[in-house]
Amino acid sequence: MARKQHTKTVSLEELDIEQHPDLLDELQGNILKGHGRNYSAAIFVVLSEQKEVARQAIAKLTRLVWSAQRQQESARAWRKRAAGGNPDRASERKPFCMLGVSAHCYKRLGLDTFGGPAQAQDNQPAQAAALEAFQNGMKGRVKTPYARWDPAPDGWESPLKQDFDLFILLANNEKPNLDKSVDDLKTLLGESGTMGIQIERGRKSARESDLGKAGVHPVEHFGFADGIAMPVFLKSEGAKLKHRKPSPVHNLDTILWPENSVDGTPSFGSFLAVMKLEQNVRAFQQRAAELKDALELTSADEAEALAVGRRKDGTPLIPAPPGDLDDFNYDDDPLDRENFGAKQCPASAHIRRMNLRREPQLVLARRGFHYGESWMETQPPPEKEVGLLFLGLASTLHNFIVMMGATRGPSCTYGVDAVIGKSQPERCDGSQHWWSEKAAKWVEFQMADFVTPLGGEYFFVPSLRFLRAIEAEAQANGAA
Ligand code: HEM
Repeated sequence: MARKQHTKTVSLEELDIEQHPDLLDELQGNILKGHGRNYSAAIFVVLSEQKEVARQAIAKLTRLVWSAQRQQESARAWRKRAAGGNPDRASERKPFCMLGVSAHCYKRLGLDTFGGPAQAQDNQPAQAAALEAFQNGMKGRVKTPYARWDPAPDGWESPLKQDFDLFILLANNEKPNLDKSVDDLKTLLGESGTMGIQIERGRKSARESDLGKAGVHPVEHFGFADGIAMPVFLKSEGAKLKHRKPSPVHNLDTILWPENSVDGTPSFGSFLAVMKLEQNVRAFQQRAAELKDALELTSADEAEALAVGRRKDGTPLIPAPPGDLDDFNYDDDPLDRENFGAKQCPASAHIRRMNLRREPQLVLARRGFHYGESWMETQPPPEKEVGLLFLGLASTLHNFIVMMGATRGPSCTYGVDAVIGKSQPERCDGSQHWWSEKAAKWVEFQMADFVTPLGGEYFFVPSLRFLRAIEAEAQANGAA
């Protein structure tokens, strides 16, 4: 690959970053593309109260963090070994690692001007509002000109109500390797004066037996194929997808946001929204069985598929060409504005609420994992202690906030998101409008309250240029 020189200004709009290994080396992994490993640990950290000790801890962690370049090289090596029939799992012992920094941490360590996310321009009001939300942290109720969202922190698990400084993601294909890395990290953090650590463990798929199988989509706890609709940022992958309408191929300015440069050279990171979302599988299935009766469907599976917008195997309710689960839009299934619904894919189906599949698109790279027992192999469906550790990355938190706003319904008449929506008696009844093909009529019914937020925070995933500057400073002080 040709090595190009750094330019003092980097325009993200048309940049083919794969031609710039120097830029890939300064960007963290998991932003442009998911790390893909089977087992993950999300580690929320409260650093030492002493500013210098806390900065030294970040310096030590820097050595663990993977660049996008390293992620690419590791993926290439893995594919090569797998093609030769020997994936050589032993050489994958080192865990993938990503690090996020909260606004609280930037502020208290005096890092917001030295490297924190840059301010929005005057002509970027949505980004400015999202930056304010970042500064206030996820516990703050958000009311921007574009969306409102109440994360209801009173109901969060108490350990997740803390003001965290860092978010660390460790991931590995083998569980014992991940266990070892988590133990090592705990030791490192303990030696670095850390005040608090909260760990959430999980897997790529809620169904343990799917792990490691080639070409199998992960499955979330309600039983649906997950991780299908994904924005693409690498031009080498985008070429074969550009024909889709809308195109899932996006410029880098939709995922990367500039930092306040540490040395005059442009550098970039990405905003990360983290949420622990508990799923009540039993309630979802029971309510879907009632929806089946209300719509005179033949199976509860059909009702569950209406709530998601896809069948369990990922097939969309809107027909898509064979072999491509993601080449469709809603042009031929318009919203019925008199009856507040849509006939093929309901207006409140989760995937339709999250993405209207028309321009301008809201880009969000989902990189989460599933926590809790793999219940699908054991029955009965659980009411709690299973869920999604949601991780969403974008160049602005605006996209995440608008999506969370959309779960409560754009207006009362359209009802709430049928998978992750919450009933809201204080506002309106939140019922959705469903089309019954058999009875040829619209039916009002509420699918809601299956997902509960248990905690979360906003982070910025900084550049390695920023992290290495902290490391260099600590070394100069003789500490790291
Ligand atoms: C426990 C909570 C959740 C569950 C069970 C869930 C489940 C799913 C499923 C089954 C899909 C379809 C498969 C796919 O396209 O990957 C999907 C798609 C999606 N979800 Fe979620 N989700 C949850 C939370 C969220 C949250 C909190 C957000 C954002 C704030 C979100 C945003 C999206 C988006 C953007 C898509 C792709 C839509 C498209 O482009 O068609 N989800 N989700």
